[in-house]
Amino acid sequence: MDSAFDVLVVGAGCAGMRAAIEAHDGGARVAVISKLHPTRSHSGAAEGGINAALGNTAEDSPATHAFDTVKGSDYLGDQDAIEIFTREAPGDIYQLEHWGALFSRNDEGRLAQRPFGAAGSPRTVYAADITGHVLIQVLFEQLQRRMADGLVVFEEYFAFRLVVEDGACTGVICWDLLNGGVELVSGRSLILATGGAGRLYRATTNAYACTGDGMAMALRAGLALKDMEFMQFHPTTMFPSGILITEGCRGEGGYLINKEGERFMQRYAPNALELASRDVVSRSETTEIEAGRGINGSVHLDLRHLGAEKILTRLPGSRELAMTYAGVDPIYAPIPVRPGAHYHMGGVQTDTWGLTEVEGLYAAGEVACVSVHGANRLGGNSLMETITFGRRSGEAAAEYARSGAARRGSAGEAARADAERWIGSLLENTVGERPWAIRDELGQSMLENFGVFRRAEKMEAQIGIVESLRERYERGVVVEDKGDVFNTDLTQALELGSMLDIAACMLEGGIARKESRGAHSRPYDYPSRDDENFLKHSITYWVDGAPQLSYKPVRMTKYQPQERKY
Ligand code: SIN
Repeated sequence: MDSAFDVLVVGAGCAGMRAAIEAHDGGARVAVISKLHPTRSHSGAAEGGINAALGNTAEDSPATHAFDTVKGSDYLGDQDAIEIFTREAPGDIYQLEHWGALFSRNDEGRLAQRPFGAAGSPRTVYAADITGHVLIQVLFEQLQRRMADGLVVFEEYFAFRLVVEDGACTGVICWDLLNGGVELVSGRSLILATGGAGRLYRATTNAYACTGDGMAMALRAGLALKDMEFMQFHPTTMFPSGILITEGCRGEGGYLINKEGERFMQRYAPNALELASRDVVSRSETTEIEAGRGINGSVHLDLRHLGAEKILTRLPGSRELAMTYAGVDPIYAPIPVRPGAHYHMGGVQTDTWGLTEVEGLYAAGEVACVSVHGANRLGGNSLMETITFGRRSGEAAAEYARSGAARRGSAGEAARADAERWIGSLLENTVGERPWAIRDELGQSMLENFGVFRRAEKMEAQIGIVESLRERYERGVVVEDKGDVFNTDLTQALELGSMLDIAACMLEGGIARKESRGAHSRPYDYPSRDDENFLKHSITYWVDGAPQLSYKPVRMTKYQPQERKY
């Protein structure tokens, strides 16, 4: 294959497409590699909106957005990154609008902005409740325009190994899903934009594709993952399917009620109520359910008082999802919801241009940890992160590729042949377990032992469970499909390997963080935040087949840690 590109972008969700567009416009020869068709990426599942301080509904500023984000992060977010993010977000929104994003509008014809959790002003720009879907379509249109001008998309290409030689990334090894076969794609720089790892949990909003491939590839290539213990649980995932019901429902005025019909958030967050930060709302719901005030393992999201017109115009997608998957029309009945794994605050450590520790290797979006979200992400900041940091990493990777420092590699073919032998032996193996059995045990046990509330003994037990699952995986798994065309049996076996390594890193970070901060809550042994000992990022390397933990200071500018109250 002629595969000597300047910039490779692995992943074609919002971050990947935005990065590719910027790199192409910066003069680079770009290839996008994605295990899905771009419009099927998980970014399309983001519903409620994207945050930028436009001030269209009430007074707002990048500084207020920055303060809310720092506070929401439970002071673990890097403040320099947050200030860049909040300053550049408005320009990025207008860019999307000029490209044709059909955002909802207010009565004055300006971009409408709705309230979201823990935000000091209504700043979430939205397209009804299908915002991610709209952005994916707009970015794909822009990508297609550039495909006519030389940009190449390898869709349904499963990237599973990075080529790193002499401290620089020079390519990636992929499995061609449509035709079969191990392929090398070479480039002078590479941007990981592969998304998160929510599929580590049985109850999740994440698509089947969200299996942490990019994080695992980086880890195995010797890079650090940052803050891996912080998995966000979204408070309103439909019971029992786990499908996302947007925070926009609460932004539009929805209530959370327990089995007594009580609006229980009055007891947990008397000011912000249902619009407290996600970690607070998820803990409150879990407390209600564990105290026996839930309804069959859920609480109710009540929209009835909003009225049919508001539900039909602002939340039509949520209504459709509730009717299809819970058999409930929210105009007439509440939706059963519970917390579900939604977003990984941790990821590949990068600087504010997306650059990792390896020359030529960048990361953006959920796979990366810049870190804007710290210990808890604000709703609406994730779509914005994909756009702002996607753009920045695309610009930086193109600049690097053009610079004299960038190299063409020579180790790619040997790496490809090695990967081909490995895949061949995986396909030939006939003795061992089916991967799905291990995956199901992983998803169930992570939910039980490393969920909203974390107990030391359960985390210890889960470390043992993951170790034994990894042993079973390494002893050999059986891929029954030996064919070349859409061999999802094979790719699921590869994904499982990634998920097991990521789980080990998360648990290592969790057991060592002896405090409660953001999404990491240990109410039984360390119920408080401990800034003296743990106002620091966890950094995990993979050393001799196991996670090795160290720490790094949080980058502070002007926001001193305070008690969080909502
Ligand atoms: C939502 O609409 O609630 C999800 C969007 C996000 O996580 O930012």
